Amino acid sequence: MKIFLDTANLDQIKQAVDYGILDGVTTNPSLISKENQEFMPLIKEILAIVPGPVSVEVTATDAEEMIEQAKKYAELSHNVVIKVPINLEGLRVVKTLTDLEIKTNVTLIFSSPQALLAAKAGATYVSPFVGRIDDISGSGMGLVEEIVQVFYNYAIETEIIVASIRHPVHFVQAAMMGADVATVPFSTLEKLLKHPLTDIGMERFLKDWEKVKK
Ligand code: E4P
Repeated sequence: MKIFLDTANLDQIKQAVDYGILDGVTTNPSLISKENQEFMPLIKEILAIVPGPVSVEVTATDAEEMIEQAKKYAELSHNVVIKVPINLEGLRVVKTLTDLEIKTNVTLIFSSPQALLAAKAGATYVSPFVGRIDDISGSGMGLVEEIVQVFYNYAIETEIIVASIRHPVHFVQAAMMGADVATVPFSTLEKLLKHPLTDIGMERFLKDWEKVKK
């Protein structure tokens, strides 16, 4: 499973690159706004640091304007992926961008028919938002299971990005279900590494090492 970082924070992205585990980054307007920086310079820096795909979301609501925005972003770097919302305008955008060989990530997916339609329009990725479904007492990972099955049934090549991840269990389930990508907040990435027995084990080894005649 590929690991993307769900952030627009440069420090977090740099750290993940240094750890050698980063396959890509997803951003959205809310994550960008948290950074309090001018949009274009920030996105250019992210694109330069990340060795893989970086999702940049269009903010227009009409298809023609979304396509104009997308073309402008796509010129920035080879690793740009255009994030497009799932709706009728969005499908037209995905079709046009696919014809232009511009990669797309269809976002705000909350049902398997939405994912199937996005894939049929040519989406490179679809992003089901698991945490937001759990927030309203649904089963976010149940949706991922459904999409994995549907895509498997028809040998669909669109990759599934498990998004809106809130904790390590979402990550583990995504891997068990065979999702292509998990996009995780930095705080979840750190939690993935933590295990109390690892900490206790390290402490014991270091204590015992002190007793060794050197
Ligand atoms: C990523 O593509 C999504 O925009 C992001 O994971 C949404 O996460 P949230 O539901 O925590 O805002």
